Amino acid sequence: MPSPDRDPVLQLLVVSKPQALARPWPWSSDWRQGGKEVVDQQLSPPQDKGDAGVKELDGLKSDRLRTVQLNVCKSEEVEKVVETVRSSLEDPEKGLWGLVNNAGISTFGEVEFTSMETYKEVAEVNLWGTVRMTKSFLPLIRRAKGRVVNISSMLGRMANPARSPYCITKFGVEAFSDCLRYEMHPLGVKVSVVEPGNFIAATSLYSPERIQAIADKMWHELPEVVRQDYGRKYFDEKIAKMETYCNSGSTDTSPVISAVTHALTSASPYTRYHPMDYYWWLRMQVMTHLPAAVSDRIYIH
Ligand SMILES: NC(=O)c1ccc[n+]([C@@H]2O[C@H](COP(=O)([O-])OP(=O)(O)OC[C@H]3O[C@@H](n4cnc5c(N)ncnc54)[C@H](OP(=O)(O)O)[C@@H]3O)[C@@H](O)[C@H]2O)c1
Repeated sequence: MPSPDRDPVLQLLVVSKPQALARPWPWSSDWRQGGKEVVDQQLSPPQDKGDAGVKELDGLKSDRLRTVQLNVCKSEEVEKVVETVRSSLEDPEKGLWGLVNNAGISTFGEVEFTSMETYKEVAEVNLWGTVRMTKSFLPLIRRAKGRVVNISSMLGRMANPARSPYCITKFGVEAFSDCLRYEMHPLGVKVSVVEPGNFIAATSLYSPERIQAIADKMWHELPEVVRQDYGRKYFDEKIAKMETYCNSGSTDTSPVISAVTHALTSASPYTRYHPMDYYWWLRMQVMTHLPAAVSDRIYIH
């Protein structure tokens, strides 16, 4: 648990970009129910404060909850928010207890269907956003001997066909978190990774409309040789498969919320949390422990 002499206001940082959080963020609401101190830092130039999610959180009128909005891809915005947090602390020398890097976007597409711009866009948020936020907040987190919690994915441990733009960013988050954990250990900062399974049905990472929009753009931008070689039928079949996947997944995000809560509050947080159903848990064990010749045959080919 955060030590009692720690500043009672700023314990948790949740970030999002302008116009984000049209609904309350699940893990922060859980924290409120648990009566813990929360700061839900959304984004924030004042003009963005009209966002419904921000309004709802501000409407709680909690003196332990503040909303700040930012885009994790923008260094200036991140630095501004660090300053906002620092100046809100009763004693900045005591630092900030926790940072949860949750912001993420996702897309799909086989390697030959995915443009370089798409690879970069996803990495900009998922990987570089996490690195940028962590580096910027570490001086405060170090002072508190606090916690960094990075939201990765089961796809940060095992790859999947047609998910390379997402997988490479989450594998990157895993590597970054490991390096950081080693470096922070002697300084008393604990670093955890949460690797959710499939919660697509419960979140807005994908929707049928979004999948169709991605597919249309992708087909339109494909190099002619790729279009010709694979053909429209093959492409449409892959999109249909993705649509099926997006209607799947657990609608109960409480295991993820519990994992984040444990990582922030337990005296002995785990290095990795695996909130996922049995199918994905078993698949991840097989994919990460058995020879590829075996696991590929079971799950991929
Ligand atoms: N859903 C799943 O099945 C699943 C599985 C494994 C891991 N995850 C991971 O869980 C995390 C949360 O995703 P989710 O499933 O809850 O999806 P989500 O509902 O789409 O939430 C993602 C959040 O990140 C915000 N965001 C996106 N780009 C940002 C930026 N540049 N700066 C600041 N905030 C930004 C989004 O804001 P906007 O609403 O404005 O876009 C949104 O609030 C992600 O890291 C995701 O990769 C999800």
